[in-house]
Amino acid sequence: MKTANFGVIGISGRGSGMMRELMAVPGVNVVAVCDKYQDRAENGVKIVKEVQGTDAAMYLDYKELLKRDDISAILCCTTWITHCRIAIDSMRAGKHVAIEVGGAASVDECWQMVHTSEKTGKFCMLLENCCYDRNEMAIYNMNSLGMFGEITHLEGGYRHDLREEICLGRENRHGRLVNFMRRNGELYPTHELGPLSKLININRGNRFLTLCSMASKSRGLNVWMKKNKGEDYDIADFPFNEGDVVTTMIKCANGETILLTHDCSTPRPYSRNYNVQGTKGIYNETDDERAGKIYFDDFEREDWKPFKEFRDKYEHPLWKLYSEEGIHAGGHGGMDYLVLSAFAEAAINDVKPPIDVYDTAAWMSITCLSEQSAAMGGMPVPVPDFTNGMWIEREPYRRGKFCLDEVCRDCFENIDGEEK
Ligand SMILES: NC(=O)c1ccc[n+]([C@@H]2O[C@H](COP(=O)([O-])OP(=O)(O)OC[C@H]3O[C@@H](n4cnc5c(N)ncnc54)[C@H](O)[C@@H]3O)[C@@H](O)[C@H]2O)c1
Repeated sequence: MKTANFGVIGISGRGSGMMRELMAVPGVNVVAVCDKYQDRAENGVKIVKEVQGTDAAMYLDYKELLKRDDISAILCCTTWITHCRIAIDSMRAGKHVAIEVGGAASVDECWQMVHTSEKTGKFCMLLENCCYDRNEMAIYNMNSLGMFGEITHLEGGYRHDLREEICLGRENRHGRLVNFMRRNGELYPTHELGPLSKLININRGNRFLTLCSMASKSRGLNVWMKKNKGEDYDIADFPFNEGDVVTTMIKCANGETILLTHDCSTPRPYSRNYNVQGTKGIYNETDDERAGKIYFDDFEREDWKPFKEFRDKYEHPLWKLYSEEGIHAGGHGGMDYLVLSAFAEAAINDVKPPIDVYDTAAWMSITCLSEQSAAMGGMPVPVPDFTNGMWIEREPYRRGKFCLDEVCRDCFENIDGEEK
């Protein structure tokens, strides 16, 4: 079996969990860890010892880690405003890189990622785990069978009550708070936009053209702090820039519209609000544990049906395989393990990843573009074409089990027919 050495940068809550799962992927050997906080870096060394039984090297400065020539790839789980820089430096140092999710702070950093990847031949993969979630993959599979007809409109959201995590950002040394203080826009678009983009072939025959964003007033964080930390808490009255609910509309070259909602400062159950609407039917994510419901034109009565029965029937072959192997107990129900497996497979074999630098740049750019649009009262702004025209007729993608551009049925064994 081929193996490769990995370095991990950013070992807080997410980084430590992702590093554990990465080490569970066959062929992965973590040899170095880094966090700017000593205690977190030390914790990284401890985790590697516990899982791999080896002594990883520890760094507080990621540039020192990148000087090593025995590392093939970097897993970066730092903060929204550091991912792009670390990705660029990693590729310049000759390493493939995968970055945790979050939006970009500027269009320029997205271009720099694209140009660096093209120049160095190293890939930059956004670790958009939701592309590998069970529901999203089953819907992708159903769409590949033509069940929704032609897709016209899509919706998704990041609707997650994160008031405690955001408000206690200083106490917990967490990266979100400053973003909510200073920015106002769609701060976290990719959990929904990633899988939605793959449904409509963004960057492969389709692309985002323009977007417009509007932000509501900001109230939720102040209310939470006063209730939980008291009226005298020093930032209880801080004038947060980020609106409680930010809505963004994207228009695509092939005519589809996409509605995104960012909603992390109000009391509410978790939802990604996934909605897929086509000429033959519609999928609608419900708020009760993302159960989902579905309606097709040929139903006898005008009633929704539960998605669960369709998901069982049209399970994506990757999920069938992983359910059979019993691996889907990892983080976020299994999608973390799958996205890390996809990254590791590409890095170990030195081949194209299923989410490439053009996807990464296009999805992440929605954040800084939405800030511009919201600042101008919802004015449409153009979305750059990071493929520089290649989207019109792209080179072929790499087929395989983790492919997100096609359901590569022939790559799976013992999968029953999925015909409707
Ligand atoms: N995909 C998912 O489901 C999911 C879930 C949780 C978090 N995340 C994402 O993962 C990322 C990390 O999340 P978190 O909750 O652990 O955040 P966090 O703010 O707690 O941790 C970030 C870590 O990165 C370190 N860091 C920042 N800049 C650094 C630098 N230049 N060099 C070395 N270390 C540096 C910080 O010291 C900190 O330990 C975020 O982008 C978050 O949005 C994704």
